[in-house]
Amino acid sequence: MILHSEQPNFERLADWLKESRYTMVLTGAGMSTESGVPDFRSKNGWWQNIDPRTVAAVAALQENYPLFHEFYSRRIKGLEQVKPHQGHYVLSDWQRRGLIQTLATQNVDGLHQHAGSLDVFELHGSIHSVRCHDCEAPAEKTDFLQGIPCRYCSGPLRPDVVLFGEMLPEDVWNAALAAVSRAELLLVIGTSLQVYPVNQLPALTLGRVAILNAEPTEMDSLFDLAIHGQAGNLLQAIDQVLSM
Ligand code: APR
Ligand code: ZN
Repeated sequence: MILHSEQPNFERLADWLKESRYTMVLTGAGMSTESGVPDFRSKNGWWQNIDPRTVAAVAALQENYPLFHEFYSRRIKGLEQVKPHQGHYVLSDWQRRGLIQTLATQNVDGLHQHAGSLDVFELHGSIHSVRCHDCEAPAEKTDFLQGIPCRYCSGPLRPDVVLFGEMLPEDVWNAALAAVSRAELLLVIGTSLQVYPVNQLPALTLGRVAILNAEPTEMDSLFDLAIHGQAGNLLQAIDQVLSM
């Protein structure tokens, strides 16, 4: 077995995972890039070429629906062939083995569920379901993709994702707050922690906090352990230590 330079940190995190009676995992877009899904703020992320306020905000939906529609249609179509990577399967396996109790994600791509994770807290909603922005009636994803308005009130259709300026789904956010207040370990994976209020969760954790991320974040100093690298590789390396 090739000893990774971070081996001592893998062993430390593996011990914490075994010791913790309540572990919560929080993921961001960095958890999906190895499945081919762009993140937002890395060098080839979505927000490098697009100002999020022009496509991912309520004003964008109201003032420039064609641009809003094109952006989300492209993301929905881009996800059709996308599969979870090994890191997603490690997390669903850890949940099955009782090593993690709660999985909360900022991702809207459904890859954790696709890999078998259960009861996933989708803090920023899901791109796979669609509703009318005016009357809130659920609608077909195919209607959205074809630009068909709401069949009840002719209002604009939109994915069930949280747009900038919108509140997070209250029940999911409250469940995440309850989970973090119990967590003896919060493991954060693949997020720049730049978006409120999810980026408050590490500071709200009373137990240990660890982060796996490709690059340092502004909040790294908050963490008891920060390991930099690709989420899929790191999760498999930690899983190897757990299986020894
Ligand atoms: N492994 C580990 N970390 C990675 C990987 C990878 N394979 N790929 C990228 N990363 C890291 C990047 O270095 C970056 O720090 O993941 C982080 C992704 O940060 P963002 O692109 O800002 O994504 P995220 O933190 O999830 O954004 C939060 O912003 O635009 C909104 O609603 C959107 O949910 C999103 C929110
Ligand atoms: Zn409607």
